[in-house]
Amino acid sequence: MADPFLSIQNVKKSFGNVAVVKDFNLDVGAGEFVSFLGPSGCGKTTMLRIVAGFEEPSAGKVMIGGKDVTGLKPNQRNIGMVFQAYALFPNLTVAQNIGFGLKVAGMPKAEAQARVAEMLNIIKLPDFGDRYPYQLSGGQQQRIALARALAPKPKLLLLDEPLSALDAKVRISLREEIRSIQKKLGITTIFVTHDQEEALSMSDRIVVMNEGRADQTGTPFEIYNRPSTKFVANFVGTLNVLEGTISDAASGTVKINAEEIGLKGKLNGSKSGDTLSFALRPEAIALGRKAGNDSSLTGQIADVHFLGSVIRVRVGIGPNMVSLDTFNSPNSPPPAVGEKTEISFSSGDVLVLH
Ligand SMILES: Nc1ncnc2c1ncn2[C@@H]1O[C@H](COP(=O)(O)OP(=O)(O)OP(=O)(O)O)[C@@H](O)[C@H]1O
Ligand SMILES: [Mg+2]
Repeated sequence: MADPFLSIQNVKKSFGNVAVVKDFNLDVGAGEFVSFLGPSGCGKTTMLRIVAGFEEPSAGKVMIGGKDVTGLKPNQRNIGMVFQAYALFPNLTVAQNIGFGLKVAGMPKAEAQARVAEMLNIIKLPDFGDRYPYQLSGGQQQRIALARALAPKPKLLLLDEPLSALDAKVRISLREEIRSIQKKLGITTIFVTHDQEEALSMSDRIVVMNEGRADQTGTPFEIYNRPSTKFVANFVGTLNVLEGTISDAASGTVKINAEEIGLKGKLNGSKSGDTLSFALRPEAIALGRKAGNDSSLTGQIADVHFLGSVIRVRVGIGPNMVSLDTFNSPNSPPPAVGEKTEISFSSGDVLVLH
C-alpha cells in the first residue's frame, strides 16, 4: 500500500512468557474499514489496545498518519474507541457523555454544544440529549458511545466487539448504521469481532486471526472464496469437508468413498496415496447432475429441512456428511430421507485444504 494511514509493523506482545501477538503486520488505507476476526483468545483486543496505546508492544511499531506513535499515550494518538460494554458515565446525561472529550480538550461551550447536537443527529437520536444512560436501550447506549468516540473528530476509530451485547435484530440494524456513519465521515476504522457474518457484511478487508497471527488478510470475497489456510476455510462460512486419497497425482485423480473425481492442477505437490481434505461451500453443490458441473458423487439423503424459500439438505457420502441448499420450487417436492441421490459440483470450486 503506497501511503497507509495506519501501519502495524512486526508487532509482538507477550504477557510474562506467553506470546499473545506473534509478528503482526498490517497496513490500513485512509478511510478503510478493516475487521479483526478470530476466535476468543486469539489476541484481537490485545492488538487493538496496542494500536490505541493502552498496551505497549514487546516489539515492533505502530505508525499513524506516517508518524511513529509507539511510545505515545492514548490521548496523544487522535483516536476514538468504543468497547463491548457500553461504558457510558452513568451520572452524566447523554449530551454530557457525548461532550465529555470536547470538554477535556477545552472546546468553548457553544461550539461543544453545536458539535453534540450534530452528533445526536448523525446517530439519529436528536432528542435524547437530556436523558441518562439508564433511560436508554442497549442499542441506544452503543450509539451514544459511538457518538462520544466520534465527537472530537478522531482520525482513527477503534471498535472492540461493540455489538456483541445486543440482541440479533438490533445488532444487524446497528451494523448498517455504523458502516454508513463510517463511510459518511470517511474515518479509518478497525472493528474487532468474532462474528464472521458481521465481518463479511461490514468490512472493506478482514484480517483473520489465529493464535496471535494474521492467518489471512483480504476482502470478504477473497477470504470466503479463496481461504489460504484450513483454519480460515473452517472459521469463515459453512464448509463441507470430504476426506479423499490421491489415486494418481500425475493426472490429479482423487478417490472419495470409492468414486473418483479429477482435480488436476490443484494437488500442489501432494503424492499418490496421500490423504487430503477437500472442501466445498454449500452453494457450490447441486442436488443431482447439473449442466456444467464436471464432478459428481453418490450419496444418500440424511435429512431435509424445509426453511421456506430454501431447503437445506444433508447428504451422506460414505462417512462424509455434506450440506447443501436448494431453492424451493412449488412443482417439485423436496427429496425424501433415505433416498439415493447424486450430488454434482465443478472441480474448479473444490478447495484443497493442505
Ligand atoms: N493483561 C494481560 N495479562 C495476561 N494475559 C493477558 C492479558 N490480556 C490478555 N491476556 C491473554 O491474552 C490472550 C488474548 O487475549 P485477547 O483479549 O487479546 O483475546 P481476544 O481475541 O480479544 O478474545 P475475545 O474474543 O474473547 O475478546 C488471552 O489468552 C488472554 O488471557
Ligand atoms: Mg476481545
